[in-house]
Amino acid sequence: MIRSEKLTRRFGDVTALDQTDVSIREHAITVIMGGSGSGKTTLLRLLAALDIPTSGSVWFDGDDLAQVSSKRLYELRARMGMVFQYSALLNSLNVYDNVAFPLHEHTKLDESVIRTVVSMKLEQVGLRGFEHLMPSELSGGMAKRVAFARALAMDPEVVFFDEPTSGLDPISAGVVTTLIHDLTQKTKMTSIVVTHDVQAGLAIADHVILLWQGKVIAEGTADEIRQSTDERVSQFIEGRPDGPIPFSRSTTPYIDDLLHSSGGVNS
Ligand SMILES: Nc1ncnc2c1ncn2[C@@H]1O[C@H](COP(=O)(O)OP(=O)(O)O)[C@@H](O)[C@H]1O
Ligand SMILES: [Mg+2]
Repeated sequence: MIRSEKLTRRFGDVTALDQTDVSIREHAITVIMGGSGSGKTTLLRLLAALDIPTSGSVWFDGDDLAQVSSKRLYELRARMGMVFQYSALLNSLNVYDNVAFPLHEHTKLDESVIRTVVSMKLEQVGLRGFEHLMPSELSGGMAKRVAFARALAMDPEVVFFDEPTSGLDPISAGVVTTLIHDLTQKTKMTSIVVTHDVQAGLAIADHVILLWQGKVIAEGTADEIRQSTDERVSQFIEGRPDGPIPFSRSTTPYIDDLLHSSGGVNS
């Protein structure tokens, strides 16, 4: 359904994503894992047609996202939902209006129908009855679930999640993770979850893609990833500070950074 081919994205001289080939399984949860700066968000944004590759392609249902007309892109985007890292709720709108927002923007449904849809979506994330609350009155976990409900409003086939549990306490994180798992099964949607939370990621993944420095270094079921003999994979899974994955991605020698940032040494 969604597939990337030699997908590359550069920002200046940083290659955030390097010739990446991935395939997203339909009606399943694909978890994209990797350390900070490994290219997870970059890959997610490209798959969701929110960014344009430097080279390579993303195929969505037979269309190359970089080649389609803006009308077709609009149609394809309507089939995708997005839950951003920082929930991105509209602060001046209450929960009801946040969830109703895509319906007001993209449909001509009567308010009575919209009201029913919003109720159903809030019920799915366990927040029916909280319609009147403002984003500032929500806990982090509730805000994520409202963002989730909003992403579901248009009944998307594919939902993209960027770090859905980051900044949440363990219980709220568990609630969100379980919701992603259960709703993917119940609604037969396709979920793509970016996370650096190894245990949560492995727990819900049907398919895992592990990135390192913009490249896929391992792929498979959670068990296959756990049993990998690749040192980089086991270092990441076990969260060990020492191993082939360097602590810092910087390629400038440390001494150069120090000399540069202090404006040079006069001695
Ligand atoms: N808009 C941008 N401008 C410049 N550099 C970027 C931008 N987005 C990402 N990068 C760089 O690309 C690399 C991968 O980033 P990202 O995909 O955000 O990683 P992750 O989500 O795995 O932490 C990092 O080195 C990051 O600094
Ligand atoms: Mg990121």
